[in-house]
Amino acid sequence: MFRWSFVRSLRNRLALGFFAITLTALGALYVYVVPNLSSRLRDEKVQTLERAAGQQGGRLAAAVGGDVSDAAVAADVRAIADATATRVTLLRAAQVNGSPQLHVDHDSQSARASDLVFPAAYEAATSGRVTTGTETGAFGRVVEVATPLKVGNRVAAIAVFSSPLADVQHDVAVVRQRLLVAGALAALFALAAGYLVARWLTQRIKHLEDAAEKVAAGDFSQPIPVGSDDELGQLALAFNDMQRQLAQLDSARKQFIATASHELRTPITSLGGFIELLESEEVDEETRRRFLGQLREQVDRLTKLAVDLLDLSKLEAGSLELRPEPVDLGELARQVADEFEPALDRHDSHLELRLGRREVEAVCDPVRVAQIMRILLDNALAHTPPGTGIVVSAAREDGVVRLAVRDRGEGIRRQDLSRVFEPFHTGNRARGSGLGLAIASELADHMDGTLGVESRPGRTVFTLELPA
Ligand SMILES: Nc1ncnc2c1ncn2[C@@H]1O[C@H](COP(=O)(O)OP(=O)(O)O)[C@@H](O)[C@H]1O
Ligand SMILES: [Mg+2]
Repeated sequence: MFRWSFVRSLRNRLALGFFAITLTALGALYVYVVPNLSSRLRDEKVQTLERAAGQQGGRLAAAVGGDVSDAAVAADVRAIADATATRVTLLRAAQVNGSPQLHVDHDSQSARASDLVFPAAYEAATSGRVTTGTETGAFGRVVEVATPLKVGNRVAAIAVFSSPLADVQHDVAVVRQRLLVAGALAALFALAAGYLVARWLTQRIKHLEDAAEKVAAGDFSQPIPVGSDDELGQLALAFNDMQRQLAQLDSARKQFIATASHELRTPITSLGGFIELLESEEVDEETRRRFLGQLREQVDRLTKLAVDLLDLSKLEAGSLELRPEPVDLGELARQVADEFEPALDRHDSHLELRLGRREVEAVCDPVRVAQIMRILLDNALAHTPPGTGIVVSAAREDGVVRLAVRDRGEGIRRQDLSRVFEPFHTGNRARGSGLGLAIASELADHMDGTLGVESRPGRTVFTLELPA
């Protein structure tokens, strides 16, 4: 039984495709060449006979009409046959009751004189014109050109120039056979070549498949050899590119988890230490209160870290839901600034709001924009010496709205500037876990905005740009 699974393989399909195409091409060639060839060869033969009849008809007519001996006519017939490489038959014509009667008078192949009937000769005798015909004699098919020989106005004889068609048939048979053999060879070759080409292609595809499986299993170590710049080469390149990016993502993820667990462990260890100290009996009331204060600080820190981590993972997973609405950014800035009043007081700092006269409205999620602003203000306070001023401004320009927080602190070192938005990047580990700006910039991205930074000693500006 035929197995369909055989055709399901790309390799076999390609090989069969090659085979079928070659076979079709050769079939078309065969159908076009072979029938044409036989009629072409036959036509050529007729033309040769017609030419011989045209050239030699006059000489035969003269011999028939003149006062020439029978033997001389026979010699003429034979000589013409030799010269034209045809068989020449001379038939005498007589009128019996108005219809022509013919009988063979001379034949260049006298031995065969009786094998043919010469139907073309009868037609030529009746019509008085050169006539072409074929018949099958004792020795196979023959093509004939019959030309009437006139003496005065009367058709005295018919000269028939004939030639066997056997050689034409033989030639056609040879061509047909060669075509068939060549066709079979070509088809076999196509099958083998198709198979090899297909195997080469499928091997390369298999490499891709193997590599994809490795990547799926988490192994990013081996790029696929590219080899050529054809489509499969391009695919391999694209694949290697993807693999590289996945590897980067993978290592970033591992790094993230390692850092996050480290960040979590530090306060937990410290909590454990305080609890142990508190458990020992000889702790006076004053120390106990101090320890409890430290405990609260660590718990706050842990809580903030947990919330930040959760926020960041939600943002990166794309599962954070935004509720955009038209927001007056000036008003929002004022509210957040008010929240910071106690902190500013403690820091002995002053916050200046520059909002301009016109309302700065943007479509965004007010909760998230406030969150970004809190992160920025938090940093401005944390990274500036007490007593320095902070400026918050909101403005609309060139189709975007900009909310900027500027401080006069020590600034961010040039080499850190491009990394401040990376999770866990901090200039000073003691102060924070480095998640604030990462969250702020992810939030900005989610609102189709950007968060940028410019900094030099004495002037640091973080600018949130949102589509207006
Ligand atoms: N206004 C600022 N002035 C100077 N440095 C800043 C400022 N804001 C952020 N940074 C630097 O960027 C780092 C990352 O900030 P952030 O992501 O908020 O983390 P964290 O404040 O928790 O350390 C900070 O550790 C600090 O070094
Ligand atoms: Mg911060």
